[in-house]
Amino acid sequence: MKKTIAVLPGDGIGPEITAQAVKVLDAVGAKYSHTFEYRYADIGAAAIDKCGDPYPDTTHGICMSSDSVLFGAIGDPKYDNDPTAKVRPEQGLLKMRKSLGLYANIRPVKPYPSLLSASPLKDTIVDGADFIVVRELTGGMYFGEPRGRNEAGDKAFDTCVYSKMEIRRVAEVAFAFAARRRGRVTLVDKANVLATSRLWRETVKELHDEKYSDMCLDFLFVDNAAMKMVSNPRDFDVILTENMFGDILSDLAGVINGSIGLLPSASTGERSSLYEPIHGSYPQAAGKNIANPVATILSAAMMLEDAFGAAEEGAAVRQACEKAIAEGVCTQDIVPGSRYGTSEVGDYIAGLIG
Ligand code: IPM
Ligand code: MN
Repeated sequence: MKKTIAVLPGDGIGPEITAQAVKVLDAVGAKYSHTFEYRYADIGAAAIDKCGDPYPDTTHGICMSSDSVLFGAIGDPKYDNDPTAKVRPEQGLLKMRKSLGLYANIRPVKPYPSLLSASPLKDTIVDGADFIVVRELTGGMYFGEPRGRNEAGDKAFDTCVYSKMEIRRVAEVAFAFAARRRGRVTLVDKANVLATSRLWRETVKELHDEKYSDMCLDFLFVDNAAMKMVSNPRDFDVILTENMFGDILSDLAGVINGSIGLLPSASTGERSSLYEPIHGSYPQAAGKNIANPVATILSAAMMLEDAFGAAEEGAAVRQACEKAIAEGVCTQDIVPGSRYGTSEVGDYIAGLIG
């Protein structure tokens, strides 16, 4: 097959980790006779520096006309420490998610047997955990209006808004995953306090009774879900939740895997699909060849499987990552003092595929 991939390296470690995923995709292309054409585009602080816009129209055009998008990371400390900045790198990511219609973000969590001890949690707790977080990605507090400050500037507000349509379409995605897994969806919300959460419960229950009554649906308040995730992660199959709760819970889920540097994600929706690691731009590590590229390489595996229907190729990438991890060919976050850097891990995984 021949596919075009928009590559958006972004900020911090983004360029280094996406370069490893491209290496691995090239190895897949050579082995299975596929042609991947990469179209590079700017996003985030890197784009602000060049043209003042964190998600320029040219980048949007490239994403829209490609078969899929591979994204690195976004964020730069010079903006984090400046609350008055008018344009922020993160706005680029949000604008991209919204304008590509990426309403469902899928974050799988499953610890590697050889890495159980890398988690700060006990082996007996993390062993056997296997769940996915389906995070709503284009609604809620991230986008709700009104937002901002009052005239005096001494009050600020954000708004959480959800429509039934927005809830229903992402719930469909969660039930579809559950049908292929253990048939269980847990809706995480704060229905004891928030009106939006009560609409989530009502809508997801309606959809369940209408179309998915053969599946098990249960509900958890987000505070309780956070506790259960680190005390009883085996209890979860598919977690369905709104944007902000999903953001927080999926970082927490990184603790189960031992390193947030191992967790990939896929975003799908109306128009495109996008694949990205769940971690951020890790600016302290930028340019040092120490960041873990595995989350981005596994995101490329999800692209092969979900966007291109290349199951065998995706499985080959996963197996190569597992082998590298089992053999200790890992970056410092997993093997302290490791002699393997970002690029060496990328070379090794690409080599295993070839
Ligand atoms: C993520 C990130 C983003 C988010 C930031 C960078 C805006 O934390 O993808 O989880 O909050 O969605
Ligand atoms: Mn996050």
